[in-house]
Amino acid sequence: MKRYIDTHTHIYDADFASDIEDVIYRAQNEGVFSCILPGIDMESHPRLIQLASDRPDFTYPATGLHPTSVNSEWEKELSFVTERAKEKRYVAIGEIGMDGYWSRDYIEEQSIVFEKQIELAASLSLPVIIHSRDATEEIFSVLEKTRHLGLEGVFHAFSGSPETYRRIRTYGNFLIGIGGVITYKNSKLPATLAEIPIEHLLLETDAPWLTPVPYRGKRNEPSFIKHIAAKIAEAKHCSIDEVAEVTTDNAIKLFKLKI
Ligand code: NI
Repeated sequence: MKRYIDTHTHIYDADFASDIEDVIYRAQNEGVFSCILPGIDMESHPRLIQLASDRPDFTYPATGLHPTSVNSEWEKELSFVTERAKEKRYVAIGEIGMDGYWSRDYIEEQSIVFEKQIELAASLSLPVIIHSRDATEEIFSVLEKTRHLGLEGVFHAFSGSPETYRRIRTYGNFLIGIGGVITYKNSKLPATLAEIPIEHLLLETDAPWLTPVPYRGKRNEPSFIKHIAAKIAEAKHCSIDEVAEVTTDNAIKLFKLKI
């Protein structure tokens, strides 16, 4: 039986309210034995923590303010994350980062919030889960400033070039989160993966979003992770077993999971 960890999934989302137990059952049947739940904002936090409390056997919570939730209330949101992080139950600060795709209205504030959450993670020796979309240079200028903190973390939903990967590695011990995008027809990720060792990869679904082929268009869920693993195995010319084993090991080490 292959053993996977879905290192980025939002199965606490309202989309799963009616069938979460079935979703977890299907995931476990496919070998997914654990999930990391990244935070978004104060509004969604109670659902995340409810699931983490209901299913401590299957989930690990993270806390963070997502860049697309940065608005005029950002200071309140940020102190909420700071308070939560002190509770010591979280395995990471995330997801944090910058997003210039949906809106650039609060891009300056996004940069401030990102930097402050990196400092928070460093002060607690926690890894970070980074969301980077249409803001690569802005993200890099924050990471340039915080390089001395010796950060660890993951660039989630990576779809960059080999050059971007190499630059990311200069900012700390960052792994690369690979999700459903690798299965899309015109994805350049399979070619890029030739230059990234499996020891630097994590598997993730980002459910309910970014559904892999052959389920594209439907709601995503952790049991679909095998399609991502299969595509990585093809790109790396190795077995799915090896992808499962090494990426699971990478996740256990990065998030210091007690398994
Ligand atoms: Ni996410």
